[in-house]
Amino acid sequence: MSNFLIFVTGGIAAYKIPNLCRLLIKAGHNVKVGMTENATKFITPLTFESLTKNRVYIDDFLTDVEPDSIDHIDLIEWADKIIVAPCTANTISKIANGIGDNLVTSSMLVVKSKPVYIFPSMNTNMYENPFVQENIAKLRKLGYFVFEPDEGELACKTEGKGRLIEPEEIFNIVVEEKLKGVKFLVTLGPTKEGIDPVRFISNYSSGKMGYNIAKYIKDNGGEVFVVAGDVCLDLSPFSYVKIRSAEEMYNEVISRFSEYDILIMTAAVADYRVKNISDKKIKKNDETLLLELVKNKDILYEVSKVKNEKQVVVGFAAETDDLINNAMEKLNRKKLDMIVVNDVSRSDIGFGADENEVTIFLKNGENIRLSKQSKYLIAKHVVDVAYNILREKNE
Ligand SMILES: Cc1cc2nc3c(=O)[nH]c(=O)nc-3n(C[C@H](O)[C@H](O)[C@H](O)COP(=O)(O)O)c2cc1C
Repeated sequence: MSNFLIFVTGGIAAYKIPNLCRLLIKAGHNVKVGMTENATKFITPLTFESLTKNRVYIDDFLTDVEPDSIDHIDLIEWADKIIVAPCTANTISKIANGIGDNLVTSSMLVVKSKPVYIFPSMNTNMYENPFVQENIAKLRKLGYFVFEPDEGELACKTEGKGRLIEPEEIFNIVVEEKLKGVKFLVTLGPTKEGIDPVRFISNYSSGKMGYNIAKYIKDNGGEVFVVAGDVCLDLSPFSYVKIRSAEEMYNEVISRFSEYDILIMTAAVADYRVKNISDKKIKKNDETLLLELVKNKDILYEVSKVKNEKQVVVGFAAETDDLINNAMEKLNRKKLDMIVVNDVSRSDIGFGADENEVTIFLKNGENIRLSKQSKYLIAKHVVDVAYNILREKNE
């Protein structure tokens, strides 16, 4: 069950949206509707209010309804998926240019890493207008899913491209359940290797990449279990277990792996641990302190020994130099199906950031470069590629 936020803008096809609401609600989803002022001239908010049993959001500056809420922020926070349908040429162009002058466009400025589905609908000349086309291209480049309208008879009595695709089709696109029946094991976050009862060695992993992977899997009907290091993320949407050390992560992964179709290891697992963990807090008596470290088991390498030929294993490599050679060496040595490489020497991507830029390397030497985009969209690509490998293996 997902929270769908539908934004309706001022186009003739607004009349089709109650049907979309009905389909989503019937399938067990929650629906809230926001409208532009112009959309209310085509269809009344009361229709949506009655169908969704929720207040309809139009005026961002209302204070008397829920005084302690800021609608454009709270709505996006609430939503799992955001739909703009029908989306006028006007609203497309506003979103693509960062304009926030009403409830709908202000809300769209708040979206960071949630899937947005835009369904344009307009007269053919408007659709083919170079500004509109340029803005659609811009949105797609930024990771918005913008769908082609249908061809056919339009309200303006012309024939051509511009009809809003039918609600049933929109429903099938937004309620993707393509991962139904597929079981994913996802690791995320850092490990912590104890030094004494109060100190540890760790790394900067925030767990956000793995979190977005788990979320994308869940959004698309897959089953996911998360093995998480110590992260400040709300894992309650998933089944999960929290661990501290690399050894605990190893035990959790190895004991569960055989039950899963796909393992995605995004966790930043410590290579070494302290040989003798002090059971008392170490005093600062000496000028120097030497810690002897011993190698941890390499989880992916151990997994490769027990993996069957139908399972898919995805590794992540955080590299600071010689990315390609390091990644290919790991892919081969650990018998991975694919490896996702990111350059953690850059502060604008990778550890802790909300965006990432990665290259996916496949066993056959092929590589897929993903330009800088939200970690959710990176997650979508990574999971989709892993799922395709699983399908090929199980054909
Ligand atoms: C009868 C009528 C029908 C319209 N249909 C559409 C349409 O289907 N698509 C579109 O992009 N604009 C359409 N427009 C123009 C938009 O309503 C107009 O650009 C408006 O500013 C859009 O506002 P909004 O994007 O804030 O909802 C229509 C206007 C009228 C008067």
